[in-house]
Amino acid sequence: MSERVSIHGIWSSRMAFVLAAAGSAIGLGNIWKFPYITGENGGGAFVLVYLLCVAVVGLPVMMSEILIGRRGRASPVNTMRYLASEAQRPRFWVLLGWSGMLAGVLIMSYYSVIAGWALAYVFKSAAGVLTDQTAEGIASIFNGFVTSPEKLLAWHTIFMVMNAIVLSRGVRSGLEQATRFMMPVLFLLLLILVGYAYKTPSFERGLVFLFTPDFSKISAGGVLTAMGHAFFTLSLGMGAIMVYGSYLPRNSSIALAAIGIAFLDTLVALLAGMAIFPLVFANNLAPGEGPGLIFQTLPVAFGHMPYGAGFGALFFIMVVLAAWTSGISLLEPAVAWLVENRRMARIRAVALVAITAWLLGILTIMSFSDWAFVFSFLGEVKRNGFYDLLDILTANFLLPLGGLAMAIFATWCMLPASVADELEMGNGLLFRGWYALTRYLTPLAVAIVFLHGLGLVQPVIRFVQGLFSVPVGGAA
Ligand code: PFF
Repeated sequence: MSERVSIHGIWSSRMAFVLAAAGSAIGLGNIWKFPYITGENGGGAFVLVYLLCVAVVGLPVMMSEILIGRRGRASPVNTMRYLASEAQRPRFWVLLGWSGMLAGVLIMSYYSVIAGWALAYVFKSAAGVLTDQTAEGIASIFNGFVTSPEKLLAWHTIFMVMNAIVLSRGVRSGLEQATRFMMPVLFLLLLILVGYAYKTPSFERGLVFLFTPDFSKISAGGVLTAMGHAFFTLSLGMGAIMVYGSYLPRNSSIALAAIGIAFLDTLVALLAGMAIFPLVFANNLAPGEGPGLIFQTLPVAFGHMPYGAGFGALFFIMVVLAAWTSGISLLEPAVAWLVENRRMARIRAVALVAITAWLLGILTIMSFSDWAFVFSFLGEVKRNGFYDLLDILTANFLLPLGGLAMAIFATWCMLPASVADELEMGNGLLFRGWYALTRYLTPLAVAIVFLHGLGLVQPVIRFVQGLFSVPVGGAA
């Protein structure tokens, strides 16, 4: 079979792909979300469950997603259309591409708003606005900021334009160049910040919190959150990694690339935890304060430490870089599709997609501000309600279901020969191990965690028991 060619170009090397995909994976999820959900879910036990999810679910799904992308060599919608027809499967598999494109634009709409907060906080920190403030002072700065729609809109707009600029330059000169420069800077900043945290007397306490599991602190909901987060943080289930995989040159081992990406992503999440929690504990603050952790709790800590304004600014620059290299991957599937199907110039496609995500972002901004009343038709008006809704819809449902579908497509629908051909692992033990894991264990694990999170495990168990049990007082 002749190999397909991507009309958007390809990465210059496997290394370039690993950096770009790690750039997509490492983002707000690692530095903003992972620490606060770990804080909310009691620390070590949650971290352990999350690591398990990365190994058993994340890695196999990532390999599936990359191999699907490289075989299709097009946007997720067209890749799924092509592969479904190659394997003579129903056309509805195209929906997987559509749901990915939709999820990307939806996630970007709120992702850009939060990244805008980080941008604003670079300047607030550097200007010393956050220095020597009490916890109440910082909280009131934060609340004043997130409830003022015009400020959020301005920063959201700037962040979206930054992403549009990189995207419009294309695969090699845009995505590849940006990640090649930004990822090393991000790592450097992170190491500096861990060194800074190491100097605090609470460094050890931070480590204990992160790495000592206490299983009484984790609930079924916590397990669902951990799995949802594994998908979110690895950028899985929505076609970002698929479209990046479609630019991967041949003769680049997919297994090694996936392991590299997952390793870097996990490393950054753990290092971010090691940079953040010691500062929180050193200042007697609580780790379980939710999404405000890095914007409300952490600035209190920086504000009372030597050179806190400078290190605080570096911290937020790091957050912005991480978010930037992820934001571009959220929009790339839709951009690639417009270029392919509407024959649009890339720059116009980027403008259209970015404006759509920007407009949707206004809803998130409104939900944080005094305009939250607009959402009263959703029931009781709650600040952040719309953001919460988008977050749960995407991270807890669309991404895990998308990832599940990709694992199923790769191992139940594609021809095994095509899969083996893409993975270039031969037909040995390693390949068969991966195949069995992805075919049986991964879908089962995702399904169980889903049912568990929805509170449906007990009813299903009772139902199955009911099928096999002998009626009470029956046959003697
Ligand atoms: N992985 C990114 C993060 O951890 O912030 C978020 C993300 C990017 C999710 C791209 C999904 C995606 F396709």
